[in-house]
Amino acid sequence: MELLNNYFASVGFMPHGHCYLWKPTLVWLHITSDSLTAMSYYSIPATLAYLVKKRKDLPFNWVFILFGSFIILCGSTHVMEIWTLWYPSYWQSGLLKAITALVSFFTALNLIYLFPKVLALPSPAQLESEIVERKRAESEVRTLNAELEERVQARTQELLTTNLELKTEITQRHHTELALQKAKDELGIRVEERTTELSQMVKDLQNQIIERQRVEENLRAMQKQMILQEKLVSLGNLTAGIAHEIRNPLNFVTNFAQISEELTEELVEEIQNQKSRLAPESTEYIGEILKDLKQNVIKINEHGQRAARTVSNMLLHARGGKTERAEININTLLAEAINLAYHGMRGNDTNFNITIKTDYDHSIESVEVVIHDLNRAFINVISNACYSVNEKKKEIGEDFSPLLYIQTKNLGDSIQILIEDNGKGMTQEVLDKVPTPFFTTKPAGEGTGLGLSLTHNIIVQQHGGQLKVKTLVGEYAKFIIILPKKLP
Ligand SMILES: Nc1ncnc2c1ncn2[C@@H]1O[C@H](COP(=O)(O)OP(=O)(O)O)[C@@H](O)[C@H]1O
Ligand SMILES: [Mg+2]
Repeated sequence: MELLNNYFASVGFMPHGHCYLWKPTLVWLHITSDSLTAMSYYSIPATLAYLVKKRKDLPFNWVFILFGSFIILCGSTHVMEIWTLWYPSYWQSGLLKAITALVSFFTALNLIYLFPKVLALPSPAQLESEIVERKRAESEVRTLNAELEERVQARTQELLTTNLELKTEITQRHHTELALQKAKDELGIRVEERTTELSQMVKDLQNQIIERQRVEENLRAMQKQMILQEKLVSLGNLTAGIAHEIRNPLNFVTNFAQISEELTEELVEEIQNQKSRLAPESTEYIGEILKDLKQNVIKINEHGQRAARTVSNMLLHARGGKTERAEININTLLAEAINLAYHGMRGNDTNFNITIKTDYDHSIESVEVVIHDLNRAFINVISNACYSVNEKKKEIGEDFSPLLYIQTKNLGDSIQILIEDNGKGMTQEVLDKVPTPFFTTKPAGEGTGLGLSLTHNIIVQQHGGQLKVKTLVGEYAKFIIILPKKLP
């Protein structure tokens, strides 16, 4: 370090002014020139720095800095020249020059490198024309812009119009949709209404069909009943014809029997008168014969009378559809009804048999009734009883003995008739439905279900009476009929 210091020390050198022999004019010339040069050199970088600061867009501004540094260094060498006039710091002056040389060289090199680029920079004229070109372009752009603006406006206008149209269309569509929805809703309501109507119609139709089927069934049953009635009527007519035919000869029989009885008595008298002429044995023998003959004739008369009664009863029943009132002995009417019902049953089933017990109240003299209808009512009830016991018999067999019990009672103003059987009886269900017309538990062809309903009508409506049923399933069925003695 010391060595270096010694090396750079200015000891031994003489100041530069000695070279100028300290001639004041020369010294001053150098001082002035160097001072001016230095000042000028220092002022240039300041200007350049100001320029760089002001013009930020200046291309290659680093070159100005380089220039500035190299100029400052150049200025400093001149200041050093003035210094060395009096102080021989030649090493320092040389070092400064060397730095200046380096910076200058570097600047020069860079300048060479920069030169083509600087050349390439457009000249003011070029810039001018470029500006003109640019202005033209700008004006063109402006025109274009204006045109564009116009077109944009036109397009906007168009779009606005389209938008408006679209809006109108949307509104219209909305209206249409609303109208459609409304129509749809209305349609829905109408469809619903129609459906309800239709289902109602279907229901009505179904009801009608059911009703019709019921009516048809009733009709069929009625037809059967009518056929039966018709048969009964023709049977009645036949019976009436036969009975009428029999009545005349029967009249002869009874009349002649009566006459014969009188004649026999006359003959007995005459023989008594002629007794003396005859042998006593003969008189006795003839007397006995005549006695027997009289008895025979009396029997003929008696049975003839009975036959006549039966015939007139037959005529009475055969008067189908007649509703005339008559006073009648109920016990007799019942006996006949039992007879008819019994024979009716046997006509259908020859195995049918039944024990009939009767308990007639003979204090009942005569009751006013519609004979034909009441007879029909009795036959219905008794036939049902016969049917019921017969069914039970079929089920149980020989161990069962069918029984029919008929009882009459005088109740003063009215009479009571009990018709009881020990047949199958009725369940509550059956009892509830009796006497609904056409209700029957019998197989088709065997029952019409009209019997009890007709009976009920005859007893209750026509005769002003009562019809009651008491029954126990499997045990018995009791039909109690109460009739006023006078028709209403
Ligand atoms: N004496 C009875 N015993 C048991 N059931 C009876 C008797 N009388 C009537 N019924 C019941 O009542 C029903 C209706 O009787 P009815 O009106 O005479 O019609 P049908 O004799 O044609 O069936 C019968 O089918 C039967 O079930
Ligand atoms: Mg019946």
